[in-house]
Amino acid sequence: MSNERDTVVRTFTDRVGRPPAGVWAAPGRVNLIGEHTDYNDGFVMPFALSQAVTVAASPREDDTWSVTSLNLDSTRTFTRADLVPGMSGWAAYAAGVVWALEGAGHQIDGADLVLSSDVPTGAGLSSSAALECAVLATLAELSGLQIEPLERSKLARRCENEFVGAPTGLMDQAASTLCTAEHALFFDCRSYAAEQVPLDLGVAGLELLVLDTKTPHDLVDSEYADRRATCEEAARRLGVQALRDVLDLDDALARLSDPTMRRRVRHVVTENARVLQAAELLGAGRIRDLAPLLDASHASMRDDFEITVPTVDLAVSAAREAGAYGARMTGGGFGGCIIALVETGDVDRVGRAVADRFQRARYAAPAWFAGVPSAGAGRVA
Ligand code: GLA
Repeated sequence: MSNERDTVVRTFTDRVGRPPAGVWAAPGRVNLIGEHTDYNDGFVMPFALSQAVTVAASPREDDTWSVTSLNLDSTRTFTRADLVPGMSGWAAYAAGVVWALEGAGHQIDGADLVLSSDVPTGAGLSSSAALECAVLATLAELSGLQIEPLERSKLARRCENEFVGAPTGLMDQAASTLCTAEHALFFDCRSYAAEQVPLDLGVAGLELLVLDTKTPHDLVDSEYADRRATCEEAARRLGVQALRDVLDLDDALARLSDPTMRRRVRHVVTENARVLQAAELLGAGRIRDLAPLLDASHASMRDDFEITVPTVDLAVSAAREAGAYGARMTGGGFGGCIIALVETGDVDRVGRAVADRFQRARYAAPAWFAGVPSAGAGRVA
């Protein structure tokens, strides 16, 4: 049993006085490519990490949910009467899942939950989607519900959008729920078609460095909402349902007068094209050839979508100078993590090279690990 599983089972047993009925887990994610395309009805290609939120749980007799976070050393208890959108604090991510499930007509039984996470927080690796998807998998099974994985991811997103109040797309919850080990998820955010594309880095002699720049991203909520609003306004001006429908980029750019809006549109349209190319390359087993797409994606986020920050740009260029084949920021932006495709065994060397550059620039020390494409949410014990 993994450390996380041991810890939640032991703590649950100590607190509740009997072992849990089961243990569930849902992973964080890295997005390989396809940034800010999900809410434009476009394409994304995340994979699930081995880092996850792990939950030990049992049903209880009353209609009460008691949720303990071992990371935060905090227990929150709520009943149906407390399920009001906008609830503050970390427990909103659990309460919002009950709210979304019940809103969809499911009857959810009270439960005790003890959870622990090894997904870095505030790093753009979807620790909150992992929490939602882990709680959802737990409560659905404890309440005897059979809910299809895609429907689960949509319900977790409802929690995020309507209960917590963050206007995100579906990528993070889809990744945490639908991904499988050794694959990336090629996901169409309009049709919801999901294809598992092979991402066996080991066979290709590669590893994927995930490096957390440790940049606090204070602006992320307002900037995210701003980018989304600009994309929706551009689609309206162009007379299309979403930027996914822009087929002739030059023509679209010629019809928009606002230079900022033109750059935003160019990012989304070219990024969608890069995801389609990446899916083809991975389908043909050509992982190494992703490198120029990663570089182009980063340049597009930096110059056109303007969601990178100096630490992130320095991390990308330092990783490339240290020999990474291609590198880009991953996630919503304004800090968080970069990913870099490196030779097997090179993760620490490239990570240290970035850390050296950070030290010289007087930036906080970064942290890094090798990202391993892993399984999506489910019962683990
Ligand atoms: C955040 C959101 C996702 C997606 C990414 C950017 O992670 O939660 O829905 O929009 O940003 O690609």
